[in-house]
Amino acid sequence: MARSRVVHRCSSCAAVSVRWAGRCPACGDWNTLVARTESADAGEAGTGRRGAGGGGAGGGWRAAGPLPLAEVDAAGSQPRPTGLVEFDRVLAGGLVAGSVVLLGGEPGVGKSTLSLQVLRSVAAHGRRALLVSAEESPHQVRLRAQRLGPLPASLLVLAGTDLDAALEAVAATDAQLVVVDSVQTIADRSVGAPAGSLTQVRACAEAFVEVAKRRRVPVVLVGHVTKDGALAGPRTLEHLVDTVLTVEGDRHYALRLLRAVKHRFGPTGELGLFEMGEAGLTAVADPYRLLLGDRRPGAAGSVVLPAVEGQRALLVELQALVAPAVFPAQPRRSAQGVEGGRLAQLLAVLQRRTSAVPGGLDVFASVVGGLRVAEPAADLALALALASAVTGVPVPPDVVAFGEVGLGGEVRQVPHAPRRLAEAARVGFRRAVVPGAVPEGFPDLHLVRVRTVDEALHLTLDVPRRAA
Ligand code: TYD
Ligand code: MG
Repeated sequence: MARSRVVHRCSSCAAVSVRWAGRCPACGDWNTLVARTESADAGEAGTGRRGAGGGGAGGGWRAAGPLPLAEVDAAGSQPRPTGLVEFDRVLAGGLVAGSVVLLGGEPGVGKSTLSLQVLRSVAAHGRRALLVSAEESPHQVRLRAQRLGPLPASLLVLAGTDLDAALEAVAATDAQLVVVDSVQTIADRSVGAPAGSLTQVRACAEAFVEVAKRRRVPVVLVGHVTKDGALAGPRTLEHLVDTVLTVEGDRHYALRLLRAVKHRFGPTGELGLFEMGEAGLTAVADPYRLLLGDRRPGAAGSVVLPAVEGQRALLVELQALVAPAVFPAQPRRSAQGVEGGRLAQLLAVLQRRTSAVPGGLDVFASVVGGLRVAEPAADLALALALASAVTGVPVPPDVVAFGEVGLGGEVRQVPHAPRRLAEAARVGFRRAVVPGAVPEGFPDLHLVRVRTVDEALHLTLDVPRRAA
């Protein structure tokens, strides 16, 4: 039978207290605790309690007192595969009972599609999987889902934005996986703030963290993040959840990157590669068909960078194009996938430290495939692409380059050199322009070690050296 109890929820920070107080014990605001009745469903076996504020979502962590760490049951946090292999790999095995995953990404990147595929896979293994769809009607979800394949009977959908209805559905269906899409559109009626506001998003997330723990069910919260990560909601949830996954990629391109940026049950840094197609996201075994497939060997302004994403090296093509400035007093700088500030700095270094790049040019730089490269290791490849674009001399197609370029024009060491070289060698590149300190180690890959960017341009593009 359903029981109910009265708790007090803070209308400022959404923390829950069993007893009423004039001042919220969590955030310190006055007169914000509001009484509300909650159903305490039969499955909770007396452990159910809404925790006030932070704390982890990992299963059942409220111990009675201190105990030897060695006696703590480690099996409780074993991951269980969802069956979606690339997803499970990023999660170091799968979803952990009682854990909460935040799945973030820009609108349109594929969060709903991926969630639905995870739900479908879990349901196909005979487990009850519940989608709380607070953005799309059941009809819309159905249309999307049927593109992905047959729909197992244990894949359930509840459409609506009401938190209590969602929590009731979790209990009523005894779901073994819950996805909430999205945490920004669901709302707790007892909180006097609009859906999507910080207060609401936190309140709802906390309620799902609590239900995940109590029922030992994994919960995935979908959250939208804008390009600059600005949207307050999801970022502020990161400490509340056990795992933060991000889906990245440009919606105009097919490649999607799935990454664990926080994971309490395994290493972060695994990178999952997917391709968005007619039937949703499929794992990409060979990303180079997408990333380098359309490359024109011998074109000036193109250089391949062995980038490192998490644990994985990934070869990406950087391109540059220059043209006489339309407004010479204010030349244009356009950067896609590389940071604008970094591009401007690199141009200044090339102008001052080499003889290849004059001023007065409009400059365009981009990373092919809709990827973003933030690491300084991209400097040398970008410098070569820029110089190649200016001189019209192509960088040989079997060359990769990496290294940080300092303000003095010096080429600096970067992490993971062996991993980058191994991937370049594996894919068939024969030469690598690298910082001086990179050790030899790959018989098929000739290393061109450079100490300065000037030297790099000279050795690769035959640009005359700038007099020191
Ligand atoms: P979606 O998962 O709705 O993104 P999000 O939830 O992150 O906002 O889907 C993003 C895009 O993917 C959408 O424009 C439609 C497209 N798409 C496909 O290309 N193939 C498919 O099979 C599906 C389901 C979606
Ligand atoms: Mg969506």
